[in-house]
Parts: sequence; C-alpha cells; structure tokens
Amino acid sequence: MPPVSSITRTYTFCAAHRLHTEQLPDDVNQKIFGKCNNLNGHGHNYTIQVTVQGELDTKTGLITDVIQLDQIVHETIITRFDHQHLNFDPAFKNLTTTGENLARVIWGILVDQIPSGQLEKIGVVETRDNFFEYVGDPKQ
Ligand code: NI
Repeated sequence: MPPVSSITRTYTFCAAHRLHTEQLPDDVNQKIFGKCNNLNGHGHNYTIQVTVQGELDTKTGLITDVIQLDQIVHETIITRFDHQHLNFDPAFKNLTTTGENLARVIWGILVDQIPSGQLEKIGVVETRDNFFEYVGDPKQ
C-alpha cells in the first residue's frame, strides 16, 4: 500500500437552522431537540473541515490543488449556505439540519469534485462543544 498523506482545509460560514422533523409530532420534537426546536430558529458560525487524502505528487509535493479546492468549496458550499436558513435548502427537505446531516450533505456535494486525491472526511464545528465528522462512500 502506497504512503498516504492528508491535508485539511478549513472554511467558515454563518447560517440559521431549526432542529425539527415532520416525521415526529411537535411535542416529541420539543422533547428531543429542546431549545434548538424553537420556532424561529437560531444561528451558528459554522467551521467546515475538508480533509483530502492521497499520494504526493512527485514534482509539487502536493496531494491536491488547494487553490482549485478552495474555489470549489466556495462555489458549492459557502455561497450556497452562508447567511441562509439551512431548513430551506433543498438538501434538507427530508433531513433535520443537525451537524451530523450537514457533514453528510457536504460530503455528498464534494466527494466527486476533489481535484486530485480523495475526500477522506468532513468535519463540522457547530459550537464550542459540538464537533461532527462524516466519512462516506468515496464514490457516489
Ligand atoms: Ni443549532
């Protein structure tokens, strides 16, 4: 097995959300999600960690084209979610806007767009105390 390196790039955006699922009655939503179920939602300053793994290019010593990666993440993630209400994004039509699901949605958007190397994992820092990671199928 060839040596594998990884690089993690960090991005930030602000978004609102409300933890609520139509699949459960209102009182159960309230019980499970507590104040995060408040009707008007609330916001977070999200930090997203995108980790790409792969072999080093023998000439550049790089795993992936970071400039291109940044451009892709800005175009597909940041412009899409920054200063938006996540509950109104089509990706969350049937998904609660938990950090777990946000990491999963971001994986799905990026997995086929990594310039070189492979997406290894997505990290989502939601609050000081909440960090989520998702590792999905490398080919979707
Ligand atoms: Ni929240």
